[in-house]
Amino acid sequence: MKKKVSMPLVEKLIAYSGKGPVRFHMPGHKGGKGLPQRLRVIMEKNLFRWDMTEIPGLDNWHDPQGAIEEAQRLLAELYGADRSFFLVNGSTSGVMAMLGAALEKGGEVLLPRNSHKAALMGVILTGAKPVYLKPQVDGELGVATGVPLSEWRKALEQHPDAKAVFITNPTYQGFCPNLSGILSKAKARGMKVLVDEAHGAHLAFSKRLPSSAGEFEVDAWVQSPHKMLCSLTQSAWLHLKGRGLDRERLRSYLSLLTSTSPSYILMASLDAARAVMETRGRWWVEKGLELAERARKLINQKTHFYCVGREARGRGGVYDVDLSRLMVNVSPAGYTGFFVEKVLRERFNIYAEYADFSNVYFLLTGGNTWDDVAKLVRALKRFPARKKKLKPVCFPADLPARALDPGEAFFSPAERVHLDAAPGRIIRDSVIPYPPGVPLLCPGEIVEKQHVEVIREILRAGGYCQGIKNGCITVVKNG
Ligand SMILES: Cc1ncc(COP(=O)(O)O)c(C=O)c1O
Repeated sequence: MKKKVSMPLVEKLIAYSGKGPVRFHMPGHKGGKGLPQRLRVIMEKNLFRWDMTEIPGLDNWHDPQGAIEEAQRLLAELYGADRSFFLVNGSTSGVMAMLGAALEKGGEVLLPRNSHKAALMGVILTGAKPVYLKPQVDGELGVATGVPLSEWRKALEQHPDAKAVFITNPTYQGFCPNLSGILSKAKARGMKVLVDEAHGAHLAFSKRLPSSAGEFEVDAWVQSPHKMLCSLTQSAWLHLKGRGLDRERLRSYLSLLTSTSPSYILMASLDAARAVMETRGRWWVEKGLELAERARKLINQKTHFYCVGREARGRGGVYDVDLSRLMVNVSPAGYTGFFVEKVLRERFNIYAEYADFSNVYFLLTGGNTWDDVAKLVRALKRFPARKKKLKPVCFPADLPARALDPGEAFFSPAERVHLDAAPGRIIRDSVIPYPPGVPLLCPGEIVEKQHVEVIREILRAGGYCQGIKNGCITVVKNG
């Protein structure tokens, strides 16, 4: 008998798309629904025909002089940049490259401790010295909210020799810092300003949204249009302003972090996403925002959950909020975010972006519909309030003590130890609850009992932590 050929991943994808899921997760095109019809048809029809390599006439990403260069020029024009670069390895590569371009080995960079792991990887790669700023933590929401401007000012004064500041705008939760306040202080001290705007490629297209880095004299900012716009997963772009960053050094880092066969499909999707935003960007963003606003109102009126809104402004280091995403706080009603996310997925065919212990997150773009929102609200109404309010699991309020710089620890010999034996040891491989990808423990930091407790609580509640396998953690080898 002929053996059935197995394609486990393909089969999963067929099953997922076949059941018509309601998509509140990335990518922002939501299964292509949000793309203009003509563009969608062209892209679907040409997937294989456009899967190309650098043949003559198609330009070369590593040394662009033709079509790729022109597409990047149009992108820079749209975002008010002096120079823009297509990326095929996500904002992850852009974040690492801009840190690489701004920092020498041992150079100090100021960054909030709740930055994405890409920033940590950039610090490791460059051998820079991170100065972590402690974000405020909201006890009800159970998440880090932001670093107040006053704390930024203090850190800038205490570290006048720092070479760069690294800012996230917005965070995964949609919280934005006071960009212009931080920028003016950092620039006055001659520091480079680098912005991780992975979640903010849409900000520049609506006055009702927080400011985008492009409105200010930042040196570089990175965006993932696959998150809130309509390009394909893994595509991203990086913008530069002025001559603050050494462009050749940036290019070298980008090349180092990129395949020698960059995908033309991804680059074409970036070119198309730029064109969509140029022609109907306002419509795309306003539609997502409008849907999110209606959903927020209904969730707060008709369910037992709380959907965070503009009232978060001014609290816990939050300067502004991106209202085109929904952060639904469920623990006061007695649920974990992990549980609600699972029930929505398994019983209602509704896919959230992600969940943490206390919240579930939904991303809305021009690719969503009113029907999606109606289904979500209907499903959330089915969760009755439970008697026992759950206490959020938060990262410890104090930052972990550091024994080594991240780069030193990362390149040290390592061993695996069980979590029970981990307190007192120096971390080699980060421990990162994922999503959102914010490290609990970074290389070089000392594990304490309270970190082990947080990890255990997250795992017990159904969450996932990168860096933990079979109850073990990787630490720097003793002796
Ligand atoms: C704040 C932040 N920065 C950077 C990234 C990396 O983006 P990408 O997935 O495009 O590599 C993420 C990913 O979720 C993120 O949340």
